[in-house]
Amino acid sequence: MMRSWGTVAAIVVAAGMAGFAGTVDGENIGAGGSGEAQKFALPAVTLSPAARVGRELFFDTSLSASGRMSCATCHDPRFAYGPPNDRAVQLGGPALSDAGTRAVPSLRYQEYTPPYADLLDNPDGISTPGPGGGFTWDGRSPTLADQAQIPLLAPNEMANRSRADVVRKIRRGSQAREFGEAFGASVFENVNTAFSKALEALQAFQKEDPSFHPYNSKYDLRASNKIGGTFTEAEMRGFAVYNDPKRGNCFACHYNGAGLNGSVRLFTDYTYAAIGVPRNMEIPANRNARHFDLGVCGRTDHPGRANERFCGLFKTPTLRNVATRKVFFHNGKMKSLAEAIRFYNTRDTNPELWYPVVDGIVRKFDDVPAAYRHNIDGQAPLDGRAAGSQPPMSAQDMADLEVFLNTLNDDYHAPPPSLAGLMLKRH
Ligand code: HEC
Ligand code: HEC
Repeated sequence: MMRSWGTVAAIVVAAGMAGFAGTVDGENIGAGGSGEAQKFALPAVTLSPAARVGRELFFDTSLSASGRMSCATCHDPRFAYGPPNDRAVQLGGPALSDAGTRAVPSLRYQEYTPPYADLLDNPDGISTPGPGGGFTWDGRSPTLADQAQIPLLAPNEMANRSRADVVRKIRRGSQAREFGEAFGASVFENVNTAFSKALEALQAFQKEDPSFHPYNSKYDLRASNKIGGTFTEAEMRGFAVYNDPKRGNCFACHYNGAGLNGSVRLFTDYTYAAIGVPRNMEIPANRNARHFDLGVCGRTDHPGRANERFCGLFKTPTLRNVATRKVFFHNGKMKSLAEAIRFYNTRDTNPELWYPVVDGIVRKFDDVPAAYRHNIDGQAPLDGRAAGSQPPMSAQDMADLEVFLNTLNDDYHAPPPSLAGLMLKRH
């Protein structure tokens, strides 16, 4: 049976709190299918056959070498399809003991992302075209379908040995019949065809299922003038900080206006910037002092000196649901939203708070090789002001900004309006 999204959103939140809720009112809300998906109590919605298969695949732990890892292990719907824990990087591979190299991004609000281009038009219509678009922190995947093959085959993630390995598991698994119905009975005859259909299915699920783009935050209520969307004083002040070129200036990159392809308020302009997040020694790969994650210029299609202007650049992520995260930035170095905001405010005025100090000298930008530090972005609040000078935001500004960013969390439930409030409105 179908439920309206409003009711279902409430159930999802409740399920998230309780940790697990497979049924409500004795009724199954997993929307058909008998797989792992039900554990996460996704709302019942009408999906295309491909997307229905994609939902099964997304939650299917048998598609991993360990038998214990699915897409949802790292991209947990209860955390806006981001990581469920505060690990900088997750453990995967056959024994779930091989560390990743980057923090897990949220999969929400990815559906408008265009493929990467060195000169993508900026949605603000003012900025000059520059590197933008694409999936992963460095943009190397042009589509959601293309992206899905990375975790399926990565030795430190789901660690399947080959495409054939994945297809064999699907063919023997619980979705085999549904897969055949969606893509034709002969789909399994060719490994490459079957594999690419699996990727298409995962993409269709992410594009079609409203749980990936609910647009039901307090911010959305306010933007569409709905009841419950009235900002508090603190939220208003925080929004002003966000939009003030001299204080937060967050909107300059986490752009909240009309975006590309008819999108709105995505809180990213898909651009890439080097902001010099400190090196994170929690990531095992970083124990090798010569190893650097160079972002866009670390891609195989952007290698070497000719591409040095792309070194150190990472994608500007959406800030929707950012307050639900426990790790921040491409290397998961920051562990709270307040800390991430403080970094923006004091990276330049108090670099000793963020980078190692050796023999009294601050090793600023310790995760960007010296040869590429000229790529570090100079926009406010990271405008390169002198150490010891006044930071752009006051303590109050930072607190307000954090309060504002919390309005970007989905599944917001307005408190019931008080009688007094209603009376006031009538007069
Ligand atoms: C072991 C944890 C893990 C698993 C399992 C995993 N992912 Fe990811 N995912 C990541 C990480 C880490 C990144 C960032 C990768 C990078 O930047 O190179 C990512 C990035 C992505 C992105 C790009 C998001 C963006 O902001 O550009 C998509 C889409 C995605 N994953 C989908 C999937 C799908 C579909 C599956 C299952 C087939 C999956 N992931 C399984 C960890 C995981
Ligand atoms: C010059 C462009 C730019 C500006 C201005 C900017 N950001 Fe960012 N933001 C980025 C980029 C690029 C990243 C990813 C950097 C990385 O991981 O190395 C990022 C990442 C983040 C993250 C981590 C999100 C996640 O999913 O891990 C937060 C939080 C954030 N920004 C908040 C803000 C706030 C708040 C402001 C305003 C005070 C702001 N940003 C201003 C470009 C910008």
